[in-house]
Amino acid sequence: MKIKSAEFVMSNSDVAKCPKSRLPEYAFIGRSNVGKSSLINMLTSRKSLAKTSGRPGKTQLINHFLINNNWHLVDLPGYGYARVSKSSKKVFQKFITQYFGSREQLVTAFVLVDIRHTPQPIDLEFMQWLGENGIPFSIIFTKADKLRPQAIEKHVDDYKNILLETWVEVPNYFITSSSKDIGKDDVLGYIDGLNENMNLEAN
Ligand code: GTP
Ligand code: MG
Repeated sequence: MKIKSAEFVMSNSDVAKCPKSRLPEYAFIGRSNVGKSSLINMLTSRKSLAKTSGRPGKTQLINHFLINNNWHLVDLPGYGYARVSKSSKKVFQKFITQYFGSREQLVTAFVLVDIRHTPQPIDLEFMQWLGENGIPFSIIFTKADKLRPQAIEKHVDDYKNILLETWVEVPNYFITSSSKDIGKDDVLGYIDGLNENMNLEAN
């Protein structure tokens, strides 16, 4: 898929105020600093469409972007940011839960995972929660430029093995690097395919 246009639509902390349109929506979620905003910029070939930062906790709101006037891409705040207070963690959990619980337009979530780390309980728990709530998701491994190919393979295998302890199948996954432009066509091609399926179903 070629990205012809990518526009910021709105930022929100209130799920009820998110765009009302029925355009298919794809949400990017994962731990703070995993590279969600960077990935969105890489996918759209726009340097600073989504705001990035070396400091965790940059994205605090639900950010909608309109792509090709045809679908929404959503940048969500990261979970698992240790330095936020317990009460703001609760608020945050609430709005993430509300987002996933109420956005019927959501086609799939992309859960981003830093490829350098061993499988983290917080990510596995989040995937479990999505599964229990019937929300489809794929995994996007980020920062692949930081590892050699062999290590990438090993880390992905470790992940698969741990997922197979609770899941019947390994979810779809993608290996990406925003700094080296890796994985872009795979992710965009996947979204394109899902959008086409939605059109077929609608007609
Ligand atoms: P929050 O909004 O705080 O939850 O973070 P985020 O997940 O949106 O991460 P963001 O895109 O802001 O990136 C965090 C840091 O990781 C930045 O310093 C990025 O430059 C760096 N980063 C993101 N993607 C990559 C990548 O593919 N490779 C490398 N080497 N660094 C990356
Ligand atoms: Mg961000």
